[in-house]
Amino acid sequence: MIAPSILSADFAHLAEEVDAVAGADWLHVDVMDNHFVPNLTLGLPVVQSLLKVTDIPLDCHLMIEDPARWAPPYAEAGAYNVTFHAEATDDPVAVARDIRAAGAKAGLSVKPNTPIEPYLEILRNFDTLLVMSVEPGFGGQSFIAHVLDKARIVRNLVDAGELRLVVEIDGGINMDTIEQAAEAGVDCFVAGSAVYGTEDPSATVAKLRDRVVAVEAAN
Ligand code: DX5
Ligand code: ZN
Repeated sequence: MIAPSILSADFAHLAEEVDAVAGADWLHVDVMDNHFVPNLTLGLPVVQSLLKVTDIPLDCHLMIEDPARWAPPYAEAGAYNVTFHAEATDDPVAVARDIRAAGAKAGLSVKPNTPIEPYLEILRNFDTLLVMSVEPGFGGQSFIAHVLDKARIVRNLVDAGELRLVVEIDGGINMDTIEQAAEAGVDCFVAGSAVYGTEDPSATVAKLRDRVVAVEAAN
């Protein structure tokens, strides 16, 4: 799956920018509160407006403090997947339960230097694991390859039947780095600048997917 990130889109023309990635599997929406990360983007009203203009499932990535309070409303609004950060809460399982009860898939995200081992036991409460391959906060940064070890660990547990979840990666994904991520067993690839920085974002989504399919065919 390819999930274009609208963080790199033109915020004054969001509906057109969503149309420009027709064929995307998920639409990745980066919510930042200027506290958990040093940047401020958009919140629930914009997500509600996006839901009215697209049928692409919304993948909301909440880079915010206090997800217990702020995450469930995104699920209630109709987001398909609501991901929050492990570093932002002491009780991730309770937040996941509330997101699921509100009708969405629940995702857990870990920053590049956050180990996955302490969270393996609770991952059965989640539908998605979002491995950050840049420090959250900004688009256009370089891919941090060592995070792929986390993707491999979780991929193995999924393949062994011990977990059922989507392994997603976010940050620095482009036509080159997507191959390493695909080899590590990632299922869903977020790409912001690599998609919206091109003339034809929708064609770029298709090309990124072709790369993944080629890697999978070779393995
Ligand atoms: C960063 C965001 C990413 C961002 C990725 O904090 O979570 O989703 O849009 O942008 P690129 O693909 O340009 O690294
Ligand atoms: Zn993101």
